[in-house]
Amino acid sequence: MSTLPHLLLALFILPPLAHAVDRTINPALNAQLKLDATNLDRHATLSNDEAWRFDFPSQQKYTFSPGSVVNANAATFPALTGIGMTIAMLNLGPCAMLTPHAHPRATNVVVAITGNTTSWMVGENGVGTVRVDLVAGILTIFPMGSLHAMQNNGCENAQLVSALNSEDTGTINYLNSLYQLPHDMIRAAFGDAGLDVDELGKGIPAVGTGSVLGSDECLKRCGLNR
Ligand SMILES: *[C@@H]1O[C@H](CO)[C@@H](O)[C@H](O)[C@H]1NC(C)=O
Repeated sequence: MSTLPHLLLALFILPPLAHAVDRTINPALNAQLKLDATNLDRHATLSNDEAWRFDFPSQQKYTFSPGSVVNANAATFPALTGIGMTIAMLNLGPCAMLTPHAHPRATNVVVAITGNTTSWMVGENGVGTVRVDLVAGILTIFPMGSLHAMQNNGCENAQLVSALNSEDTGTINYLNSLYQLPHDMIRAAFGDAGLDVDELGKGIPAVGTGSVLGSDECLKRCGLNR
């Protein structure tokens, strides 16, 4: 039997934003930019003005429902190849949060444009928690590899700009990755032999657009449902 009907079925069943990681839109262009010996060669490769322009709002992930992390990086914007930077727009709808995550290859500097978003960061074992309220014009640093999370406390949209010092930062969401380990090991790591780890982990949202709905306190205050 042909697999085509199955493929088509899968396309319809999968939510459109199921892909959690940035797909490389033009690997041949990344490769050519890595081959270019000089800046003149680079400009010849990027001779089209369009290659220098990145349109955040028209990216597939761009949403405030509940929110999103939209990256301009080597995968989504090949002109950044070799530049050593990613710029991300953080779009947080009312009460939206970025769940605990880290970037294995970049320090992340975030500045708020609008809203009131509380950020939390843990640098490594043995250091405390850093909390910063990111209101317009306030900036904070999430050092490379640090655990960080944030929540828009407000009932309106919040927007922040994130700069990272790699064009390929990587992101690891803690709960999603934790639950890839054998569940008896997770139970042991919690130090609770009776813990129902299957039950505890069954509602962990997919990475999706990078954002989920935040705390019950915020949702109640803003009259929203999960
Ligand atoms: C931002 O939200 C926090 C936590 O809800 C609050 O303590 C703080 O006063 C707010 N800041 C501003 C400027 O509204």
